[in-house]
Amino acid sequence: MRRVRLVPVLLLVVSACGPRDAGEPVEEASEPEAEPAAAQQAQTLPEASAEAVLAYLTAADFRNSWDLWPGKGEKYEGTEPHGALLTTYLNPAAAQAAADGAGQMPPGAIVVKDNFMPDGMLGASTVMYKIEGYNPEAGDWWWAKFMPDGTVDMDGMAQGRVEMCIGCHAKGADNDYLLTGSIAGQ
Ligand code: HEC
Repeated sequence: MRRVRLVPVLLLVVSACGPRDAGEPVEEASEPEAEPAAAQQAQTLPEASAEAVLAYLTAADFRNSWDLWPGKGEKYEGTEPHGALLTTYLNPAAAQAAADGAGQMPPGAIVVKDNFMPDGMLGASTVMYKIEGYNPEAGDWWWAKFMPDGTVDMDGMAQGRVEMCIGCHAKGADNDYLLTGSIAGQ
């Protein structure tokens, strides 16, 4: 997975930096040069595994390239159980749906929430990733809770169709299981 995803990025970089003979017409790259976020969006989305999703998030550099939840800044005050301070990131597909007030996230939407301790240290990162057909009874979300060192919480069990996550988030079932705020237009 990791290799499949990185190779096209490397090729783009190489082709963008490669020497060009002044006299020859500049060859069109097979893919147009794109913004990093757009290029990443065009990449294959990760499979439903913690390893693949973590590699994807790392490559996306989501903390620097994704939007924050509309109307929320960084390290806003959260409610239990997620932590004292929260920062919530939306990938481009999710950000678009939120901006449109779509009421529902599209397949490929990813929401990542960094959960900080009262002292501002990162405690964990929780992820919701929508995969068409993955879990139709609960909004088709894949769930995970990563610790700061990249391991998965609950001895590796906090990933997939995590009942603990779904059980609480179900109270937002009419808002596509999202609890931070309405995505049906503000
Ligand atoms: C006891 C209730 C509860 C449980 C259990 C829970 N959450 Fe949440 N979650 C919330 C609330 C409430 C919010 C809204 C943020 C806030 O203000 O605290 C939220 C927000 C989120 C968000 C940001 C998107 C959204 O829904 O607004 C993600 C991502 C998330 N949770 C992932 C998870 C994952 C993954 C698990 C399981 C490991 C989990 N949550 C378990 C209550 C819960």
